[in-house]
Amino acid sequence: MENKLNIEFEKVFEKEVEHHFFCPGRVNLIGEHIDYNGGKVLPCAISLGSHLLVARNNTGTLRFRSLNFEEKADIILADSYTKSGKDWYNYPLGVIHLLSKNHKFEGLDLLFYGNLPTGAGLSSSASIEVLTAYAFDRIFKLGINKLDLVKIAKQAENEFIGVNCGIMDQFAVAFGEKDKALELNCDTIEYNAVPFNLGEYSLAIINTNKPRKLAESKYNERFTECRTALADLQKQLEIQHLCDLNSLQLDAHLDLIKSFTIAKRAQHVVAENERVYKSIEAMSKSDLESFGKLMYASHDSLRNLYEVTGQELDTVVEYCKKNTDVLGARMTGAGFGGCAIALVKSNKFDKFTSELEAYYNDKIGYKPSVFKSAIGEGVRAL
Ligand code: GLA
Repeated sequence: MENKLNIEFEKVFEKEVEHHFFCPGRVNLIGEHIDYNGGKVLPCAISLGSHLLVARNNTGTLRFRSLNFEEKADIILADSYTKSGKDWYNYPLGVIHLLSKNHKFEGLDLLFYGNLPTGAGLSSSASIEVLTAYAFDRIFKLGINKLDLVKIAKQAENEFIGVNCGIMDQFAVAFGEKDKALELNCDTIEYNAVPFNLGEYSLAIINTNKPRKLAESKYNERFTECRTALADLQKQLEIQHLCDLNSLQLDAHLDLIKSFTIAKRAQHVVAENERVYKSIEAMSKSDLESFGKLMYASHDSLRNLYEVTGQELDTVVEYCKKNTDVLGARMTGAGFGGCAIALVKSNKFDKFTSELEAYYNDKIGYKPSVFKSAIGEGVRAL
């Protein structure tokens, strides 16, 4: 792969590569729509991700090219940048915009290539943002620590791209460890890398292949609903985040939340946060069966209370529930299409794939893409 990409770089820019960086995507095992509510999440980095090949160009220009998208941009170095349209290079540009507040750069030729399906909920945007932050830090020796790079990448997504995401994705793709899940407290940003022993099971990623239209505006809508729930509860309770409550406390104060829909959102958040704690306990005992049940419960709550799943993701999980070779399944990431994950018996993986494809095709009219995922390391130079 490295060699092929070098050749592509030489074709595009007619010079040799000087640096090569890689940043993975992520799946979240459990704890969905929790990071911006101050609770715990359990993501891990995967082996697919984005590459960035770079060389200086001495022209005072940042030349952005991608092997995935046709759009390209040549942008003259400046102290600040503005987002233009919806093109892919806005993601790295948002990060460079923030870094430019405190640092001066030189012209670069930048070639991006990713093997993550875009817009499928595997954090292709966080991957490219952290990749850019990390690469600029290394190339220009900025000396910024990895957590601050993560925060800059998140800020770029929030302010430049306009999505109110939490810190989970950027954190996971930066700090991921091989065969480990990251138990991340999104309030304190403390984390533990916990072994994720799958025994005779494999982690399946199932891309519903549903285009995620409206995902960004729906995501921001859920963010605002959670802020409204919090403001209603804060009239009587001294809390900073929805995840400061447990289910019993929320039940006792649910009437403070005026809207029925917003109360449902809060119920999901509080119970989902509790499921993360239970999952960590189950995983520490290698009790995959209990973890699988928590995955199903998480999906049901995201479907019924948080309403972010949709027919495609529900169909995948519905099939998984019928298959005794599957311990658990759920949507992962923001939802509204995108990917599901499942714990599937390794020696039955092919059977699982073909049966799921047929079941899904029958109900939805096209096939999902199913693959086995390895759990890999975070951002790095290659
Ligand atoms: C997206 C966001 C994350 C997180 C998840 C839902 O992936 O980028 O910050 O909120 O959705 O858990």
